[in-house]
Amino acid sequence: MEKGLFITFEGADGCGKTTQMNLLHEYLILKGYDVVLTREPGGKGLGERIREILLNYEGEVSSQAEAFLFLADRAQNIDVIVKPAVDAGKIVLCDRHIDSTIAYQGYGRGVNLERLKMLNDIATNKFMPDLTYVFDIDVETSQSRVGKNKDRMESAGVEFFEKVKKGYLELAKKEPERVKVINSANTIENIFAQVKEIFEKTIC
Ligand code: TYD
Repeated sequence: MEKGLFITFEGADGCGKTTQMNLLHEYLILKGYDVVLTREPGGKGLGERIREILLNYEGEVSSQAEAFLFLADRAQNIDVIVKPAVDAGKIVLCDRHIDSTIAYQGYGRGVNLERLKMLNDIATNKFMPDLTYVFDIDVETSQSRVGKNKDRMESAGVEFFEKVKKGYLELAKKEPERVKVINSANTIENIFAQVKEIFEKTIC
């Protein structure tokens, strides 16, 4: 491939997206693609430090400050990891990206959606994913998968995660070409079959 591909994995905590990303990674490697894995927050280096604050800081964090920290991490991930790899013809798989900010800070915390969209555009220089998977799951299941040891974000509560879920579904309605929803109430194998099918359609 001359220009690579940028694929993002989204959904509420405990939706199974990381498992699916790792399965797609293995599949693509077997097919001979050059693949780079990254995540937000916390790709490598600076991103890992920002992640530490976002997930473990125990003092007060304003919703706006939280959004800017995710955005700073995003700018770093795009500039240092994602864009150089895609420009070099690689496939980049990213665990969470712009849609997490819209779903969590926008729908979840109530930060203005238009502003967040603008800030996402600034952080990424409008370098958009070619494909985004949203793994949709009911809140009860995702909360039980996360378990008792919750980080700062995971502790936001059931009502918050209902809003996050709604946010993702609305995003998918707005951008159906890019954002594909997969129902996660299914076996890992069955979900992965859908992941592969969507991927194959995208590269055709
Ligand atoms: P992580 O441990 O990576 O969770 P997961 O394995 O579910 O991806 O933690 C990332 C947390 O940060 C997760 O709760 C979602 C949240 N988040 C936001 O609120 N906004 C964002 O823009 C991003 C990228 C993540």
